[in-house]
Amino acid sequence: MTSSDMDYLTIALPKGKVFGKSVEMLAKIGYTAENLTENSRKLIITNEKEKLRFIITKTADLPTYVEYGAADIGIIGKDVLMEESKDVYELLDLKFALCRLMVAVPESLKQEKLSDYAHMRVATKYPNIAERFFHSMGMQMEFIKLNGSIELAPMVGLAEIIVDIVETGSTLRANKLVEVANIEVATARFIANRVSFKMKFDRIHKMTEELKVLLESEA
Ligand code: PRP
Repeated sequence: MTSSDMDYLTIALPKGKVFGKSVEMLAKIGYTAENLTENSRKLIITNEKEKLRFIITKTADLPTYVEYGAADIGIIGKDVLMEESKDVYELLDLKFALCRLMVAVPESLKQEKLSDYAHMRVATKYPNIAERFFHSMGMQMEFIKLNGSIELAPMVGLAEIIVDIVETGSTLRANKLVEVANIEVATARFIANRVSFKMKFDRIHKMTEELKVLLESEA
């Protein structure tokens, strides 16, 4: 870590669903920067006065930036943390971006029990989570990794089943899919790089405490 890196606290934020609420929460406790918007073409946004550096990453990549210390801390969904299995500290459950990881199938393919889907093809953005889940059920499946619009896969015959997150359920309903198993509930988490947590303990600890107070005041 260079001395310049030591001066700044680098915060990684993911593009997508978690971004807006993260920026809002951080602003409430005084961590903000001018032009910190998701659509910014600038990927590093600095607040010189407060010595804060925000970096904007693709969602799935955020844990990697934090694991390698390219960012000291970050906010990311538990679903992504579970999928990526990176070596980072999980400091706080921020309670927002509540969603569930689940297994769904087209209504027309619904079977009586989960084991009836054995050996079918599973389309998912979360192949590691999906594999662990079906393995724990003693089921062998074929996994197809996709990067989005997972619900499309069973409608066009790419896969029979999907593993995905459900938030409101409207995407499932709109595409005539039904949930057949629940895997895990996920929310946004505040995470830290292991070395940064020691080297910048005072700043990161203070921020964690401020977030805790904010969460309690809003509970
Ligand atoms: C996520 C997820 C579902 C949808 C669930 O997709 O993959 O498609 O949201 O939300 P709902 O239950 O409220 O309908 P996202 O919008 O992140 O886009 P993607 O399909 O491109 O990944």
